[in-house]
Amino acid sequence: MAVLIDGKQISKDIKEEVKDRVAKLKEDGQKVCLAVVLVGDDSASAVYVRNKKKACEYTGIESLSYELPGDTTEEELLKLIASLNQNDEVNGILVQLPLPKHIDENKVIEAIDPKKDVDGFHPVSVGNLSIGRPGFVSCTPAGIVELLKRSNVEMDGKQVVIIGRSNIVGKPMGILMLRENATVTICHSHTKNLKELCKQADILIVAIGKSKFVDAEYVKPGAVVIDVGMDRDENGKLCGDVDFASVEPIASKITPVPGGVGPMTIAMLMHNCVEALSLQK
Ligand code: GUN
Repeated sequence: MAVLIDGKQISKDIKEEVKDRVAKLKEDGQKVCLAVVLVGDDSASAVYVRNKKKACEYTGIESLSYELPGDTTEEELLKLIASLNQNDEVNGILVQLPLPKHIDENKVIEAIDPKKDVDGFHPVSVGNLSIGRPGFVSCTPAGIVELLKRSNVEMDGKQVVIIGRSNIVGKPMGILMLRENATVTICHSHTKNLKELCKQADILIVAIGKSKFVDAEYVKPGAVVIDVGMDRDENGKLCGDVDFASVEPIASKITPVPGGVGPMTIAMLMHNCVEALSLQK
């Protein structure tokens, strides 16, 4: 039976650490402020944004909220970002994705000042990560490294297999694992022998958005399994990309869904907001 990696508790620990740092900064007369921008009325995005603002409140980070109608033009959004870039009171800028189809997401991400890019999506942040310079790191993969470190999972010299090659999770995850001296394989929809490759992993990270895709046949006994999925099963119940009931008996450690990777994303966002202040000083 696997030990559960408790993302709820670990994310709480990180938020407590952020809260302490924010309180100390306040004593020195400094404050941390995140601008959160939501365009349109996507219900999932609205929930994410609400949770991000709640986490700000909890940690003592100020938040400015911009909830714009779905017919906001790209020009209007770029104008708002330019004004937030200029505003010295704002340390971090988060534009919730996805954006409505008539807005070019890449253009919007590139408009954010890299010093305020707390999501770590700007090409400058991605470039810094890939050449090992300090900078903002995408919150979900950064959160997974924290989960592993705080669960005493050794990464150095291990075989890490990642399924999924997205810009937000798979690719930065691969680079972060290289930074931890792991040997990394990134798999995707065109990968041949997926099961065989996954079965070699000491640490298997699954980020594909397909409910219960990975079962015990993909997992080496004793492997650590990280599930980034947030899916619905055939009964509409929240589940991950990993078939937990099948994999849990043979893994050594595993993240549950919910309560595994999910809460880490927001905790790392809060961490990045405090880091933003130091970067701007
Ligand atoms: N949409 C889904 N995940 C994220 C995230 O981490 N940041 C932003 N800005 N949008 C998202």
